[in-house]
Amino acid sequence: MKHIAVVGSLNVDSVVGLARFPGPGETVVGRDHNLFPGGKGANQAFAAGRLLMNTDVHVRMLGQVGGDAHADWLRQNLAQVGVNTDGVLVDAAVSSGVAIIGIEDGGQNRIIVVPGANGTFNPQRFASVHALLDDAAFVLLQLEVPLETVHAAARKARACGAAVILDPAPATALPASLLGATDFVTPNESELRTLLNQAPSEAPLTLSQAQAGAQALLQQGARNVLVKMGGQGAANWGEAGHFHWPAFDVNPVDTTAAGDAFNAGLAAALAQGQTLATAGRFACATAAMAVTRKGAQPAMPTRQEVEALMRT
Ligand code: RIB
Repeated sequence: MKHIAVVGSLNVDSVVGLARFPGPGETVVGRDHNLFPGGKGANQAFAAGRLLMNTDVHVRMLGQVGGDAHADWLRQNLAQVGVNTDGVLVDAAVSSGVAIIGIEDGGQNRIIVVPGANGTFNPQRFASVHALLDDAAFVLLQLEVPLETVHAAARKARACGAAVILDPAPATALPASLLGATDFVTPNESELRTLLNQAPSEAPLTLSQAQAGAQALLQQGARNVLVKMGGQGAANWGEAGHFHWPAFDVNPVDTTAAGDAFNAGLAAALAQGQTLATAGRFACATAAMAVTRKGAQPAMPTRQEVEALMRT
């Protein structure tokens, strides 16, 4: 039986909605506050699990929670959409990961992450559950667990013959050996700039700037660079060919985890035998649906919702 494995973080998201972010030394009053299950790894596992419910493709999560009251909630939320959590360890000496998230009017977010148990999910801890990757078809990685663990997971995935989809978030410069162990690396615009050691900028990239950035990462050993460009859609350059998928027109209320939804949609569609051309469009629609609702995991759409958006 085919499966998708996600190796990565689980977080408790503490989310405040507010009219605008405070400046230095300023206090502003928030509109509302919610706790949501999050973490880039768990979000991708949850989204893939929900998309693939009642199919023959199964989803597994490998990672670590802490010894706090939220740990069971984080695992149970994944189990609720059929994700197998046998690979989620407990480090009782620390707390589960936490993300403090502000959502401004219009849906833009700012996130501070405290790794907690994600930070102690080291290669030795990963090795105690890595056999769960043995029959994986796709392995999804992000950068919220230690880089050495991401590296170990990419190597193990390749040894098992799985395709590796690396979401380089939160972005940091990546060694060529890790880029070379991926099948797809999927930065958004700001992450692409960080991977290339360029100065941060809020200006959207043009398609030709994205292409130049992708070519630079291809030269460093990546096989495919799939750039997530928000309102401009997404584009791939590399061995699998060049594609540009336009964005779907939706009203964003919360952009948290849009990138996670995209990667889960991509993997879910590829695991079901779709070509990259159609899987990329499915991934754009998954991300578009996710930004129309609040929260990370609660916002992830069903397959039926994604397909309905694709028909519009
Ligand atoms: O990608 C969104 C996620 O980033 C949030 O759920 C938060 O936990 C942070 O890790």
